[in-house]
Amino acid sequence: MNESIRTIEARIDELNRRKDTLHQGGGQDRIDRQHANGGLTARERVNALVDQDSFQENGLFAVHRCSRFGMEGKDMAGDGVVTGAGSIDGRLVHLASQDFTVGGGSVGEMHSEKIVQMMRASLKTGSPFILINDSGGARIQEGIDSLSGYGKIFYNNVMLSGVVPQISLICGPCAGGAAYSPALTDFIIQTKAARMFITGPSVIRAVTGEEVSAEDLGGPAAQMNISGVVHFVAENDLEAVAICRRLLSFLPSNNMEDPPLLEAEDVILPDKQLNEIVPVDPKQSYDVRDVIVRLVDRSDFMEVQESFAPNIVIGLGRLQGRSVGIVANQPSVTAGVLDINASDKAARFIRFCNAFNIPLITLVDVPGFMPGVEQEYGGIIRHGAKMLFAYAAATVPKITVIMRKAYGGAYLAMCCKDLDADRVISWPTAEIAVMGAEGAVDVIFRNEIKAAADPATRRMELITEYRDTFSTPYVSASRLHVDDIIEPADTRRYLAMALDILHSKREFRPQKKHGLIPL
Ligand code: HXC
Repeated sequence: MNESIRTIEARIDELNRRKDTLHQGGGQDRIDRQHANGGLTARERVNALVDQDSFQENGLFAVHRCSRFGMEGKDMAGDGVVTGAGSIDGRLVHLASQDFTVGGGSVGEMHSEKIVQMMRASLKTGSPFILINDSGGARIQEGIDSLSGYGKIFYNNVMLSGVVPQISLICGPCAGGAAYSPALTDFIIQTKAARMFITGPSVIRAVTGEEVSAEDLGGPAAQMNISGVVHFVAENDLEAVAICRRLLSFLPSNNMEDPPLLEAEDVILPDKQLNEIVPVDPKQSYDVRDVIVRLVDRSDFMEVQESFAPNIVIGLGRLQGRSVGIVANQPSVTAGVLDINASDKAARFIRFCNAFNIPLITLVDVPGFMPGVEQEYGGIIRHGAKMLFAYAAATVPKITVIMRKAYGGAYLAMCCKDLDADRVISWPTAEIAVMGAEGAVDVIFRNEIKAAADPATRRMELITEYRDTFSTPYVSASRLHVDDIIEPADTRRYLAMALDILHSKREFRPQKKHGLIPL
């Protein structure tokens, strides 16, 4: 045999050697540094995320084409990102995991091409796309090729939006324009060690003179509680991966499918404790999550954006095995009033559920929209309108439960019958009115109260009269704004039956490019 032609054994040896080297990413020193910082490597994250032995890698041998600024001949395993397909609970996903040990996970031409190829595969196969971010951002040496790569990722984020679920894990730095890809996806899970910002502390110091630490600027406390960018905060990488797996269990693989159907209970018995949670006195507060966990299967409620705009609670649960999205006013925080952030938070979630065939259950106990100069200047009109728009535009089954207060515009914005709710039911404690009895009486009987011999007593009489008229659900039910009035104990059974009945709901809307949700 010609000496220059190597045997198959030699070629396989070479292949295995090359693969072993590439699997080492940036080498043991950098892997050790990653571990010392409390993080997993890109491959360890992938292995923790997907079902055992289900990962099939793509593009391991990718090599950058940059020759400038010391890049010529520089080895960069997989060009700094691990990409491929795997399964989660037996269902296909496509993913990319940035490898900080290789060039700081920076995004060059090949790196972005690998990510984009997985995004396109998600679209073709109708499977969720997951991007694990841990990167210094645009690879500075590659200049425009790097920016172009980000542009392609953003474009494909938009192409996938509403077709397959997209989830971003932020497990390291995610700075500059890089943060816009997660922002274009459906859910962001950030670890406590990770940092997200458009411009870091040093740029801010130079431009505005403000002093802020990276943690205060881009840690999860800032990006969840204050900005509302992040949806879930994880203690560490493993918890981030667990959150991602749990989240996917509620979701369909794409917009043409229903979410996975789990086993149902044989019989739903009345739950008398539900009669006790909501105080009849509208001034008394309670935690609406105590209601939610009694309505969903096995009390399994996955709250989204728990500490952003906590005056409204949103999240996923199941009823008789069917996934549902829950939107509920939270009377224990600012009486559950709707403000700018609560409206944004709820509207986005409603649109997500509608895009992915997840029925909506709305629990109402709301005193109104938040008054105040700050709210008006901040645009409460256009932000609040998002809720009206999102609910009216949603065609999934929509079921509303009025538990107690449902006042004014906020009654409408919490998915009333006129926004095409399929069912509006109420508890006997419901008060459906333009405003609370005290405020209403002060407006319409101002002169009568002033002229009365005993104004305070007259005012109390009028408040009682107003309350007796409107602070029950019977007037609303008589006009068919409420379909039924039920004992709270029967709510879970009612909802499960209604979801069954509404499962085949089909609703067609006028043809258009897209509506113009107020932004
Ligand atoms: C090329 C990069 C890089 C980048 C990090 N590295 N970021 N290489 N382009 N953007 C390299 C470093 O040179 C180093 O390589 C290795 O990655 C590890 O980085 P360290 O700095 O040693 O790590 P650490 O101390 O942990 O700091 C991490 C960091 C820092 C905070 C992310 O590296 C950093 O500030 N990087 C620059 C961030 C940045 O400004 N990116 C551009 C943002 S603008 P060696 O070989 O020395 O180990 C942007 C625009 C996108 O992203 C626009 C899209 C529209």
